[in-house]
Amino acid sequence: MKKEINNIADQFNINGELLNVECKNNGNINRTYIATYKMEDGSEKCFIIQKINTTVFKEPYKLMKNISNVTSFIEMKTQFCGDNIHPCLSVIKNKNNKLLVEVLDEKTGEKQYYRAYNCIENSISYDVSTDKQVVYNVGAAFGHFQRLLSDYDADDLETTIPDFHNTPKRFDNFMSDIELDVCDRSEEVSQEIITLLKYRGSKDKIVNLLKKGTIPVRVTHNDTKVNNVMMDKKTGDYLTVIDLDTVMPGSALYDYGDGVRSTCSTAAEDERDLSKVELNMELFTEYTKGYLSEMADYLTEDEVCNMGESIRVITFELALRFLNDYINGDTYFKTKYDKHNLVRARNQLKLLSDIDKKMPDINKFILETYRKYKHENKQLIKNK
Ligand SMILES: Nc1ncnc2c1ncn2[C@@H]1O[C@H](COP(=O)(O)OP(=O)(O)O)[C@@H](O)[C@H]1O
Ligand SMILES: [Mg+2]
Repeated sequence: MKKEINNIADQFNINGELLNVECKNNGNINRTYIATYKMEDGSEKCFIIQKINTTVFKEPYKLMKNISNVTSFIEMKTQFCGDNIHPCLSVIKNKNNKLLVEVLDEKTGEKQYYRAYNCIENSISYDVSTDKQVVYNVGAAFGHFQRLLSDYDADDLETTIPDFHNTPKRFDNFMSDIELDVCDRSEEVSQEIITLLKYRGSKDKIVNLLKKGTIPVRVTHNDTKVNNVMMDKKTGDYLTVIDLDTVMPGSALYDYGDGVRSTCSTAAEDERDLSKVELNMELFTEYTKGYLSEMADYLTEDEVCNMGESIRVITFELALRFLNDYINGDTYFKTKYDKHNLVRARNQLKLLSDIDKKMPDINKFILETYRKYKHENKQLIKNK
């Protein structure tokens, strides 16, 4: 493997001599390597090489085109603003000017695809964090990402995973899978199904707003987790958003809702003790402050009015997806033990009921924070 990955690393357009390649094992989807080169000026420099998971991503060139377009746009904006605090992620092409290095797997006869990026230096990513400052920074990082892309024409991007956040469609599939009941599990989870159905009222909300044109189609990251933000090792501030595999046209609300859902729960997504699972309001306020500090001037009023709702919709969607996967025999999400998906579904249902209870407070805080940042930004412009 060592020889093979060295050979792959040599094919990228990097003007240096390859010194070493190390495998980094903390990603969930792709295999990530750090390659060190001795550059022409004698300095040592690291690059990231990733093997794309083609079981999840079927069309690697389409996905890379999205990433390349979005990263180039961000780089242009960042340079234009004279921002030298936030380093940009850049795709490094191969020596034939292609976005990927292709290798034929001799055992399976299938093609494997590798890409390279610059390494975000002196940075760290956290797999989980309950630190308020970190959560604020995650919200701000995804807000910053959306702000830079707020005038990017999202229709220019490929929809690499169709209906990714089409909650009503996912719901229809779920209902037919309960009927089909291929693993004879529907009866076992009848209580969970009843609980889920209680919340189905919100499932069409974002999709309908998009359909009617009430809210704009925007570039959406679609994987707004804490470990997809690189933070400055020294200051703790956010540097760059990474993991752009699921960048597609969508809604800002998908990213905000999923960011809060995944970052602000009091317990891991597969915690079995449901008494531990709640929406942590302190973390929610931090995430929201961070996000709106960047996005208050760029969101439409309809988007702002639906931010709270988006947390409920996305949590409903995840509960539904875990339960659906359990009913189907665990074919999509990786499971570590029997009933892992059922544990996750129960966990998300508990989170959903808590979010539902807290919705008035959630909405109140979002509106207050939005007004605060709008007002502050107006004052700033006035005093300039
Ligand atoms: N450009 C980069 N600079 C520094 N570290 C990176 C970079 N890209 C990825 N990493 C590190 O590798 C990990 C996995 O990368 P990621 O793109 O998120 O893959 P996955 O899709 O498998 O989650 C990240 O959490 C981060 O620690
Ligand atoms: Mg990742």
